[in-house]
Amino acid sequence: MSAMLVDVVSVSKRFTPSVSVGERIAAWLGSPVETRTVHAVDDVSFHIRKGEVLGLVGESGCGKSTLGRVIAGIHPPSAGRATIDGLPVMGEGRKPLKTTTRIQMVFQDPFASLDPRIRIGETIGEGPLAHGLVGKADVHAYVAQWLAAVGLPAEAADRFPHQFSGGQRQRVAIARALAMQPDVLVCDEPVASLDVSIQAQIINLFLKLRRELDVTMLFISHDLGVVRHISDRVAIMYLGRIVELGPTAEIYDRPRHPYTRALLDSVPKLVTGSDELVTFKPIQGELPSPLSPPPGCHFHLRCPSAQARCRTDAPRLDAAAHSVSCHFPLAAGE
Ligand SMILES: Nc1ncnc2c1ncn2[C@@H]1O[C@H](COP(=O)(O)OP(=O)(O)O)[C@@H](O)[C@H]1O
Ligand code: SF4
Ligand SMILES: [Mg+2]
Repeated sequence: MSAMLVDVVSVSKRFTPSVSVGERIAAWLGSPVETRTVHAVDDVSFHIRKGEVLGLVGESGCGKSTLGRVIAGIHPPSAGRATIDGLPVMGEGRKPLKTTTRIQMVFQDPFASLDPRIRIGETIGEGPLAHGLVGKADVHAYVAQWLAAVGLPAEAADRFPHQFSGGQRQRVAIARALAMQPDVLVCDEPVASLDVSIQAQIINLFLKLRRELDVTMLFISHDLGVVRHISDRVAIMYLGRIVELGPTAEIYDRPRHPYTRALLDSVPKLVTGSDELVTFKPIQGELPSPLSPPPGCHFHLRCPSAQARCRTDAPRLDAAAHSVSCHFPLAAGE
């Protein structure tokens, strides 16, 4: 078995939003203020092997970005730890290891993540220069090399972000991340803000990069279709927990968790032999609030297979290669 590069062990992340002025006044007048804690990530463990792409999928608000940020060392975890090659991603005193270049992130909105006043060449070159990955004399060539890797011409270095299309800006953001020569790339919804045709181009770019550079990636998306093509394994997240994790083909062809099944069924599909009939089954019920997730299995209010035990007893992810967290998992292919 190849080496583990990223190890996530029992990571939880809770947010307790600060009390608003209105609530403080209400408290002063004698009304009780309930403490609202969001369990954005709840006891999550998994690993990513060197050179592997792990897809992380789930509905909006289930905790994907928070988990990605904990792994990238941006958020300190409330409990548990994330390590890369055995070293914690957070430094002493729970401060991010600022000097680390080992994990880089690519975000959903390439415009927000690029400084509008700074030329692209400088944006890509400044980190590698600051960390001694390249010397001043060679930085132009270095930047051109990464621009070429993401399919942009060397002249792009002299332009500003607004002179690019959304897809090109995402290419720039990817080049900036890769130029730091990270061991791990955390991509958080990197194609979600792009047109469908551009999405395909950027996915193809990621496929090329993983083939040529053997990058290790955590690839986050709410879209099952996007993750399928890029991932070796896929983790399915629901209300802060990983509910199923396994090799990509297994997850898509033989899902074992009722939520994964429901997610797959909710994707519109063309009926074979027709170019018009589209079928899909939306997931029943509402997504519960992460402020008060249901007890037991978080999915029990929406699950067609739920039984009495599911209401009180939280299932655990088992340790199998295709692991599932469910008291009554589906038989393969159900
Ligand atoms: N900085 C924060 N402060 C308070 N709550 C947060 C913060 N970041 C995320 N959350 C909450 O944590 C939950 C998970 O959010 P997020 O990780 O962004 O989910 P996803 O990326 O899957 O959409 C949500 O309920 C969100 O409102
Ligand atoms: S544990 Fe129960 S409620 Fe949860 S997914 Fe499995 S069968 Fe459904
Ligand atoms: Mg997100």
